[in-house]
Amino acid sequence: MAIVVIVQHEIFRQKWATALQAQDPGLPVSVYPEVTDSGAVDFALAWRPPQGVFNRFPNLKVIASAGAGVDHILKDPDISPEITITRVVDRQLTHDMTSYLIAQVYGYLRNLPGYHDLQRQEKWQPGKYLMERQARIGIMGMGVLGQDAALKLRQLGFPVKGWSRSPKEVAGIEVLAGEARLKEFLQHTDVLICLLPLTAKTRNILNRQTFQALPGGAFVINVARGEHLVEEDLLAALESGHLAGACLDVFREEPLPQGHPFWRHPNIIITPHVASITSPESVAPQIVANYHRLQRGEPLQNVVSRQAGY
Ligand code: NAP
Ligand code: GLV
Repeated sequence: MAIVVIVQHEIFRQKWATALQAQDPGLPVSVYPEVTDSGAVDFALAWRPPQGVFNRFPNLKVIASAGAGVDHILKDPDISPEITITRVVDRQLTHDMTSYLIAQVYGYLRNLPGYHDLQRQEKWQPGKYLMERQARIGIMGMGVLGQDAALKLRQLGFPVKGWSRSPKEVAGIEVLAGEARLKEFLQHTDVLICLLPLTAKTRNILNRQTFQALPGGAFVINVARGEHLVEEDLLAALESGHLAGACLDVFREEPLPQGHPFWRHPNIIITPHVASITSPESVAPQIVANYHRLQRGEPLQNVVSRQAGY
């Protein structure tokens, strides 16, 4: 039995293979497409796999996403329902996401990107100066990443609310649950952070209606998936002045195509899907542990619900 690594970028393929073998030097790891015995593969570690690739492994039992999200795997309709899908839950990944969000929230509070632009124009122009208590944060998706960000932002003095599918208790943070409470959640949000998984229910959720429910001057941060956002609705909300700006780390098409209106928009900050990048060294232990659990017939960790899509 063997693991196959299916990752597009050559540099990451090698990093993963090295990190997995560092955990267990005897581990049978192959790196797609250089797989000599497809029949031996029962476990795949994948990030943005080519459509249909899993059909090449007739004895595949587990697909492990190399990231927190599994949308890039579940979009392949050919994956047998018998195959178990897992995702990454990792302290470093969580820490990095929260750090990124804190950086962007402070950038908004103190107009830091605006000063970069003004510097290039040699303009001394003091502007927006908000304090933590003046920026109510609303986090859509109160899972592993959302809860960590919520707790740390609250510690910094921000009023924080969360929104999730099911009700939950998160120390000192009000979490509103379900579609029925979305509007109420949005009405109390000055900085909206999207940390939802991409599912049939959440696709296009950052749309005109959502933006309209936010107070005037709100700021939107999307670090989840590009398909959460209806791009033209964001542009219209910025154009009308209802939204003050947006920070986007993820896009419908990645890399964001040349000439896309987001690139040069004065109120949009773009980062190239780097809010939080999986560290193979940090995550390899959980992947190898799951591989050994599979071999022993034990339940796996971080299994996702095929039905819920996350
Ligand atoms: P998670 O632990 O599975 O949490 C997902 C949260 O979303 C849960 O609170 C869930 O509600 C909520 N949710 C799901 N469907 C919903 C719906 N229809 N309505 C309301 N809430 C809903 O996921 P995670 O580990 O925090 O990761 C979240 C996402 O972040 C990933 O899926 C990925 O797309 C993205 N991500 C991006 C980067 C980056 O670099 N940009 C890095 C890592 C992850 P319940 O709690 O009720 O189930
Ligand atoms: C990154 O986008 C992830 O899902 O981990």
